[in-house]
Amino acid sequence: MGWYDRIAGWYDPFTAWIYHKPRTQLIEYLKINRGDRILIVACGTGQSFEMIQQKLENTGEIIAVDYSAGMLHTARKRIKKNHWKNIRLLHEDARNLSAQYFLRRGIEPNFDVLIGELAFSVIPDWEDVMKTTASVVRKGGRVGLLDWYRKKNDRLTKVVNYLAQAEVSRDTIGFARKLFADFRVIAWFLSGNVYVGVGENA
Ligand SMILES: C[S@@+](CC[C@H](N)C(=O)[O-])C[C@H]1O[C@@H](n2cnc3c(N)ncnc32)[C@H](O)[C@@H]1O
Repeated sequence: MGWYDRIAGWYDPFTAWIYHKPRTQLIEYLKINRGDRILIVACGTGQSFEMIQQKLENTGEIIAVDYSAGMLHTARKRIKKNHWKNIRLLHEDARNLSAQYFLRRGIEPNFDVLIGELAFSVIPDWEDVMKTTASVVRKGGRVGLLDWYRKKNDRLTKVVNYLAQAEVSRDTIGFARKLFADFRVIAWFLSGNVYVGVGENA
């Protein structure tokens, strides 16, 4: 049983309020339209599903990937409770994602939007995963990231790295700037430690 399986039960009560504002901003800035097809990497319990659905109005499709059965269990309960029919959960290691992976499952690797919330600071081989997931977004599609970024290796960094099994010093912003046209941080939260950034797939 992995870390996120163990903490899945208390993940929402402990974190939902912390990230509510940044998530709201991210979804606003992504300019999601009815009918959009959205890929969420490391979706966890699906805390942003509801905000996205308000934009989609239950049209389009959300493909949400995570490798923790525990986190996906909560996501599944959320979907059932809300009677959502347009969300497909994939229990998969994000490192295995590729155009072929989606095609084999009957999913067009041509998404309108890619979302990574608290994802790329956690996923191993994150640069490869960002590249491959970017490659399945259509030209002109949008990308939205929400993540920690903290260079200082102080106590807070150590606590966050431990609790999230993350590496918050990763330069996810710099990498996203190289990968996506016009990637920009639109806001900082939690005393300048958590950013929300959006860009376009070139
Ligand atoms: C901090 S949580 C964020 C969850 C969710 N995106 C959110 O914003 O609440 C990190 C998530 O990354 C997932 N994860 C970590 N490594 C992964 C990998 N290699 N493949 C898929 N999911 C992964 C964990 O299972 C966990 O759900």
